Amino acid sequence: MCDNQTDNLDPTVFRDKGFTSAALEDYAPRVQYHVHRLMEVIKSSKGKEVRIDLRTDEFAHDVVSDLGFGVEKGLQEGYGNREYFESINGLLALIQPIGSLRMLGEFFSVLPLLKGSNRLNSTGEALFEARRSVGLSRKDIFSHLMSADHRTAPPHLVAFHGNELSSNAQVLLIAGTITTSTTISMALYELSRNKGLQTRLYQELLEAFPNSPYDEITVDVVKGLPYLNAVINETLRLHPPAPNGTQYIVPDDGRTIDGTWLPGGTVVRTCPFAIQRDERYFAQAEVFFPERWTTRPELIKNRNAFIPFATGPYICVGRNLALQEIRLALANIIRVNRVSLGLSFNNKVFWDEWKDRFVLRIGPLPLVFTSRID
Ligand code: HEM
Repeated sequence: MCDNQTDNLDPTVFRDKGFTSAALEDYAPRVQYHVHRLMEVIKSSKGKEVRIDLRTDEFAHDVVSDLGFGVEKGLQEGYGNREYFESINGLLALIQPIGSLRMLGEFFSVLPLLKGSNRLNSTGEALFEARRSVGLSRKDIFSHLMSADHRTAPPHLVAFHGNELSSNAQVLLIAGTITTSTTISMALYELSRNKGLQTRLYQELLEAFPNSPYDEITVDVVKGLPYLNAVINETLRLHPPAPNGTQYIVPDDGRTIDGTWLPGGTVVRTCPFAIQRDERYFAQAEVFFPERWTTRPELIKNRNAFIPFATGPYICVGRNLALQEIRLALANIIRVNRVSLGLSFNNKVFWDEWKDRFVLRIGPLPLVFTSRID
């Protein structure tokens, strides 16, 4: 209904090519590879506390760097470009105040020019040029972006010029890392606090992979696991990684929304954090209750109020990749570990340090992973 302001991205390029089921199948082995690295990090902790919020950041950043820029050795292995990663975090601190005052799309479109983000831009450019020189032979998200390069694009595609390509690649890193990381961390937080939920998920995984821990956990199987997907949905409902959503502009002829007339040009914003915790749409809305997505459907009063990835034509293009990463990571972790809050976990600090920087930044989350198979 409204025009979205992040459309410096040509959505058809991403949607039709970079994130199709076939493309996701191509990416699956790379995602598996990074999940195995995350498992090694957890295994090597040998029962000591792991700052899972930091480790899942590294994991998610590695996945998108690999699929977006072709950087295979990443943060989890100690070779990754930490400078670039830190710059993104610094930039996020800028996004929220700027993004609240200005349209976020304007912000993204000037990303490569923004004063104060020079380090981000120069490192991003270097990664970008290195990947561009590899060409189209490597199948990743970037190869789909490149097929919209104005020098090579077929005429029916909107072509990217100048720094648009680089800017779009950087948007991927910002939009696709912390969101996914936060979801994995917050799901583990909820499971750590409730051993009953953890056991239920473990049982489901045992049934799906009876030769645990030897069966490879596959994308196809985890996609169909009801409880795993319920845990993920419930995490996205209570802790939406883009808590305040993005801005939209009412078309010139105006619209009536929920009984209120909005003239053309009005900026509107839909806030998933508030909507998804509203008792009008979810019963016991403040409670983490995965069963509402399985055996207790009456606890969902309006399914349309579940909008962690937004909705309509501008729904997050990376959502299926995100879900693939989250399912694989959680299934692998819970299949072989019991998870609990670390002794140094501080509830007050954890919640005090939550920040809405367009994407949600969570506080320190030390967890302990105890192997089920030693
Ligand atoms: C749990 C993880 C994720 C959540 C909750 C999430 C959520 C969102 C939301 C709410 C938007 C704004 C939509 C709008 O109103 O315009 C968005 C946009 C976007 N997301 Fe995601 N996202 C996630 C993961 C990812 C991943 C893994 C990628 C890619 C690697 C990605 C790529 C993008 C891109 C490129 C946009 C802008 C797309 C456009 O303008 O059409 N996201 N995401």
